[in-house]
Amino acid sequence: MKPLPIVVLISGGGSNLRAIIDAVEKQNLPAKIRAVISNCPDACGLQRACNSGIETQVVDHRQFVDRDSFDHALQQAIDSYDPELVVLAGFMRILTPRFVAHYQGRMINIHPSLLPAYRGLRTHQRALEANDTRHGASVHFVTSDLDGGPVIIQAEVPVLSCDTPDTLAARVLALEHKIYPQAIRWFTEGRLRLEGDVASLDGQPLMKPVYWEDSQ
Ligand code: GAR
Repeated sequence: MKPLPIVVLISGGGSNLRAIIDAVEKQNLPAKIRAVISNCPDACGLQRACNSGIETQVVDHRQFVDRDSFDHALQQAIDSYDPELVVLAGFMRILTPRFVAHYQGRMINIHPSLLPAYRGLRTHQRALEANDTRHGASVHFVTSDLDGGPVIIQAEVPVLSCDTPDTLAARVLALEHKIYPQAIRWFTEGRLRLEGDVASLDGQPLMKPVYWEDSQ
């Protein structure tokens, strides 16, 4: 299978990026990461990309007067690599509707909560404050509804009475590293699509997200 060209956007540590690179290098994920682009010049993930010989670019949002001009520059940077899928992996910027529309059906995100619960930030803290017994992560298509696009796959962890936001985040992150490569694999294999505002897998609309069993 010809590898699908993808571009990964990051803002920070890049552990999800690392998981995607590992899946490409060691698990035959049929993708070619043409570039990793960050809005933060000091994102550690840029070094991870360099170490794997992947091209990197920085489009620093602080250099732009408004969201529109930043998104325009970001779009130009992404499109110069002609990707078929844009993967947001800890990319912490709110995107303009025009930018999102340009990548409709070919941009996915990972979010550290069981969407639709806890869109936005501080998800682990909020799950603890609500005394939730389960928490997790979701991969979804990006739409102009922030963290509100159709969910593809989710993984859950139990919330433990001794959890802090950091311990909970670490257990969720470990599962993020499994479900993101899986969702990307489905897309590269042509099995995953956005049809209208519904995600479909193998031609079947996903009435609810696929639930990741950790034995997979
Ligand atoms: C991950 O937990 C990801 O789900 C989250 O940022 C972290 C990035 O970690 N993304 C969001 O909160 C997006 N709203 P990483 O840089 O180590 O992959």
